[in-house]
Amino acid sequence: MNPVRLMKVFVTRRIPPEGWAALARAAEVQVGDFSAAWIPRTGRSSLTWCRPTPPPPSPRGRCQVEHWDSDEPIPDKELERGVAGAHGLLCLLTDRVDKRLLDAAGANLKVISTMSVGVDHLALDEIKKRGIRVGYTPDVLTDATAELAVSLLLTTCRRLPEAIEEVRNGGWTSWKPLWMCGYGLTQSTVGIIGLGRIGQAIARRLKPFGIQKFLYTGRQPRPQEAAEFQAEFVSTPKLAAESDFIIVACSLTPATKGLCNKDFFQQMKKTAVFVNISRGDVVNQDDLYQALAGGQIAAAGMDVTTPEPLPTNHPLLTLKNCVILPHIGSATYGTRNTMSLLAANNLLAGLRGEPMPSELKL
Ligand code: NDP
Ligand code: DGY
Repeated sequence: MNPVRLMKVFVTRRIPPEGWAALARAAEVQVGDFSAAWIPRTGRSSLTWCRPTPPPPSPRGRCQVEHWDSDEPIPDKELERGVAGAHGLLCLLTDRVDKRLLDAAGANLKVISTMSVGVDHLALDEIKKRGIRVGYTPDVLTDATAELAVSLLLTTCRRLPEAIEEVRNGGWTSWKPLWMCGYGLTQSTVGIIGLGRIGQAIARRLKPFGIQKFLYTGRQPRPQEAAEFQAEFVSTPKLAAESDFIIVACSLTPATKGLCNKDFFQQMKKTAVFVNISRGDVVNQDDLYQALAGGQIAAAGMDVTTPEPLPTNHPLLTLKNCVILPHIGSATYGTRNTMSLLAANNLLAGLRGEPMPSELKL
């Protein structure tokens, strides 16, 4: 009898229940048994699952699934240990998958599935060179992230955190004509850096606010997508100079790293509001601090920073005109569950050698 070929999968964190359930179904393990792995304990745990399709010959092909049993990120050394010899890796945007980790994984690794649409934490050139397939989670988080972007924009331009604080600390003494005034969206020009899935969903939500004009940038014009908003493709300096509100919704690449820097902020209107929901590294935070502190721009709202978490003594946190959120763009229960399910299904399809529901073209 031939020895059973074990395929190893490593999952770098506890993931939401739907993703776990998909792994459990594939594993032919009761969800109840599987959820025992959710006990609040840091460490690795494992289960064994059977390939569901095609009906496996006897003895059945089996996979060993291990995961880092914690809500906190896995330490580098544990990640290297966990991934060693794995055929599949299910990771998060906090896990840096670089040459060192790929070397630690070894030649077995065939599939990486990230529970994120952003893939800037993956060394894609190196991954491609090794013939590894990559799954990611586009579309399913677009609505949640666009909702958050609009929330953050309104929170920032109407100064909500400051206003709430004034109510709490007794600063609210009377209704006063110019007290707590901010900037409204009606009749404004909105500039979107990256009119992709999320950029378009943001524009779609902002349109009913009575935006006068949409501008956008990207690597090239997207006339079909832009038509819905009559958005104009412009250069980055023009977008900076003419927008009342700027929203960064591009992916982080070598070309977008540090795109919003001193020059960019100097081109912006003094009354303009800047929002970033993309990745922290698109912004030069020292330059942003200077622009906000010196009154070069009115305010900034950021869902993403460098590093994450931002140290609590970071200068940006001393500014009243800077609103910072802890990377919660996709953080609805439904969205995170769906992301985990898609990530699990990408991984399982990849391991079976089937087309993934969402595979990144490398
Ligand atoms: P898409 O691939 O649909 O959009 C990416 C956009 O980036 C495209 O419009 C692309 O424009 C633009 N872009 C790429 N290179 C450049 C460049 N050099 N200059 C300007 N624009 C550029 O991805 P999604 O909309 O789904 O997601 C976008 C990003 O949002 C993710 O990569 C992720 O980093 C971030 N994100 C953040 C979340 C959060 O929680 N805050 C949640 C989800 C995503 P073009 O192709 O026209 O060049
Ligand atoms: C992503 O998916 O890239 C976000 O940053 C988190 O949902």
